Amino acid sequence: MKSREAVLLSAIAIPRLTSALDNGIGLKPHMGWSSWNVAQCNAASAQYALATADKFVSLGLKDLGYEYINIDDCWSTKSRDSAGRLVPDPAKWPNGVKAVTDRIHNMGLKFGLYGCAGDKTCAGYPGSEGHEKSDVAQLVSWGVDFWKYDNCYTPCRQNPRPQTCTSPAGSTKTWYAPMRDAILSVQNTRKLHFNLCNWGRDEVWTWGATYGHSWRYAIPLKKKNRMSVDNWGDWASVERIGSAAAGIHQYSGPGGFNDLDMLYLGSPKLSVDQERLHFGLWAITKSPLVLGLDLEKISNSTLTIIRNKGLIDINQDSLGRPATTFRPPGAPAPVGGKIYPYWAGPLSDGVVIGLCAGTSVGTYSVNFKDVPGLGGSGSYAWKEMYTGQTGNGAGVSFNINLHDMRVIKVTTA
Ligand code: GAL
Repeated sequence: MKSREAVLLSAIAIPRLTSALDNGIGLKPHMGWSSWNVAQCNAASAQYALATADKFVSLGLKDLGYEYINIDDCWSTKSRDSAGRLVPDPAKWPNGVKAVTDRIHNMGLKFGLYGCAGDKTCAGYPGSEGHEKSDVAQLVSWGVDFWKYDNCYTPCRQNPRPQTCTSPAGSTKTWYAPMRDAILSVQNTRKLHFNLCNWGRDEVWTWGATYGHSWRYAIPLKKKNRMSVDNWGDWASVERIGSAAAGIHQYSGPGGFNDLDMLYLGSPKLSVDQERLHFGLWAITKSPLVLGLDLEKISNSTLTIIRNKGLIDINQDSLGRPATTFRPPGAPAPVGGKIYPYWAGPLSDGVVIGLCAGTSVGTYSVNFKDVPGLGGSGSYAWKEMYTGQTGNGAGVSFNINLHDMRVIKVTTA
């Protein structure tokens, strides 16, 4: 008999909301790079964008599917021009944005920019509130492919509006709708990927697919009256964001994915074992895989992880269904905020199993008959993606270091 979790997992045919931005974009989790985790404002430049595009090619990342070069906050000047337009900072974009997007497009890659639903971005640059249509027209004229949309300086009961409002004046939906509509109105000219970054407010996973193609959800963590929700590049962030992915897997799928936030591989605060779990968990939960590191300085161990084709193929599987936790017989119950050891999810030609040593080093085993989507007494062929081990049989067992992970693809087709 299947466990309750297994039954729940196999019942993932929960209808998802149809995307209003159902324009063929975001059918798989997007892959790329973002400037923010690299050097925050300092990396929002043409120089970083173009150097990264070159590295995508020379390191073989483009061939693996990494596609978007996304520039985050601080790319513009601090004020709009007299016609109300956003102005690329001439020190960072000496030839403007279009020269960069043209070059990136010629390389077969895509380009993203960052904006904000409030009157300022989080770092204090002009926000798009009240300028949605004209800002989108500018993005179209530059050939931008991706638009991350943040939630700072948005309508708030506090006066003046703080950067991060703790008492919002309404639902974030209210201030994401005008931008969604502006993007919809240019669809026949340019298809933009709309990435919502409202930090999970108003349970964005329940409506994100009707507004955009991906949404950040990191659960709010109140700390001295401030919200602290990003991936900060430490184990606590991987644990906080990764563990929460299990509870909202059913909302994520082709055209609208839960975004676990930009990867922080390369962070000095993460060990190689932790980097493997970070990448592996983001991959199997079908998060966008957006690198947040300087590719000029990447270590060989990190490069090996981000170039793991088996994991990338799992992330990009055409079914687009995230893995979630399941509880084999005798296993302890999941603990909130901690990474549970047993994960599984369907693939177009099999099932992926994730084994995470999130809380203790040890031997982690599963019988395939206990895994949602497998079952029966069959013997299956499997491959582990980090060690390259393969086998046939009724189950697998691995010794796993603390905070490391094994990802097993079981083939059924
Ligand atoms: C935060 C967002 C980060 C980054 C930053 C820029 O709100 O979560 O991912 O975009 O703003 O200021």
